[in-house]
Amino acid sequence: MLRLEGIDAGYDGTQVLTGVALEAKEGAMTVIIGPNGAGKSTVLKVINGLLRPARGNVVFQGNDITNRPAYERPERGIACCPEGRRLFPQLTVEANLRLGAYAKRARASADETLEYVYRLFPRLRERARVKTIRLSGGEQQMVGIGRALMAKPSLLILDEPSLGLAPKTLSEIFKKVRELREGGLTLLLVEQNAYQALRIADFGYVMQEGRIVNSGPPDRLLDMDELRRAYFAIP
Ligand SMILES: Nc1ncnc2c1ncn2[C@@H]1O[C@H](COP(=O)(O)OP(=O)(O)O)[C@@H](O)[C@H]1O
Ligand SMILES: [Mg+2]
Repeated sequence: MLRLEGIDAGYDGTQVLTGVALEAKEGAMTVIIGPNGAGKSTVLKVINGLLRPARGNVVFQGNDITNRPAYERPERGIACCPEGRRLFPQLTVEANLRLGAYAKRARASADETLEYVYRLFPRLRERARVKTIRLSGGEQQMVGIGRALMAKPSLLILDEPSLGLAPKTLSEIFKKVRELREGGLTLLLVEQNAYQALRIADFGYVMQEGRIVNSGPPDRLLDMDELRRAYFAIP
């Protein structure tokens, strides 16, 4: 569904990504893990068209979209919940959700999709008229994911959904993300929280210093001594 080929990219002459190649397969949950500063969000900026790579290609559903503008992504079926969620704090939950449905492919069925989001996150229905600034971190993350779902994506991208969440809230959110995957949605998840993310993923990539240094099925990655040492401080 989505393929990155030999991506080099950076900011103002500083190269961050080197030769990044990866694939998010249709109907699967792919996860990119790596420590803070590894370049995970930069990869997503390239996918979302917010950063033009110096080299390499972004191919989505067989089309090279590397240099297509960012605003086309939602029309093509790519939706992202960015790091930190970027909600409008003074708007209500429902207003924030509806903003996700601006793509033509999503507009006509916005009411139906909203109902789907409320069924996935019943808590958001209860909080529909509340300003998002008053929500807990977990509820705000639900709004972020819900808003991305409002675009009716065929590929849903989540950048660090676990950020700042308590362990119990985190596992609730990850359970919902897994539910989306069971429902047939293609997902690309970026996480510092390697252990939790790999537990729900179908395939994983490990990033370090702007490169993919390892990849494979989650079982294998979770078994690797190197990963253990890097992430869980096990000697
Ligand atoms: N807008 C930016 N301008 C300049 N450097 C940036 C910018 N965003 C990120 N970087 C740098 O790129 C590197 C990778 O960052 P990022 O992709 O955010 O990593 P991650 O998401 O894995 O934590 C870091 O060294 C970071 O300082
Ligand atoms: Mg990041």
